[in-house]
Amino acid sequence: MKINVNNEVREVSASPDTPLLYVLSDELHIKGPRFGCGLAQCGSCSVLLDGEEIRSCITPVSAVTGHSVTTLEGLPAFYAAEKKLPTVPALHPVQQAFIDEQAPQCGYCYNGMVIKAAELLSHTPQPSEAEIRSAMNGHLCRCGTYPRILKAIEGASRAMTGALK
Ligand code: FES
Ligand code: FES
Repeated sequence: MKINVNNEVREVSASPDTPLLYVLSDELHIKGPRFGCGLAQCGSCSVLLDGEEIRSCITPVSAVTGHSVTTLEGLPAFYAAEKKLPTVPALHPVQQAFIDEQAPQCGYCYNGMVIKAAELLSHTPQPSEAEIRSAMNGHLCRCGTYPRILKAIEGASRAMTGALK
């Protein structure tokens, strides 16, 4: 089976019902998405599928054939394509904002938080605090860094739109 991950067509040998997360991690050695709950409850395994966040722990690999998967590793290139930038930045603005705000503590939730925030800002460049809280609701941080994550997303929004706040 062939799947498109981060703009590369990859041949994979896993059975069609294998969760995408296992294929990314074990077969393609892409380590951004992480196993947390395995039940679509925490968000640590999130990736983008045609720009929309999905939980790779419950998505069979067969479901992504013919679509584009973007992982944390491919997020800067995804952003460059979305904004038609001449070059690919080292980091997506959300990744940079998470560093600037020192948002993660242990970092386990970081993958899903960044993927979801990137999806949110793609659809809603200047979300209200309530919209950010609502969008991020299904992403759990066991370290409780939610206030810093909120600030980071607001910072990324400003960076991406040039907004003053
Ligand atoms: S590991 Fe997929 S949502 Fe928790
Ligand atoms: S920083 Fe530890 S789970 Fe979020």
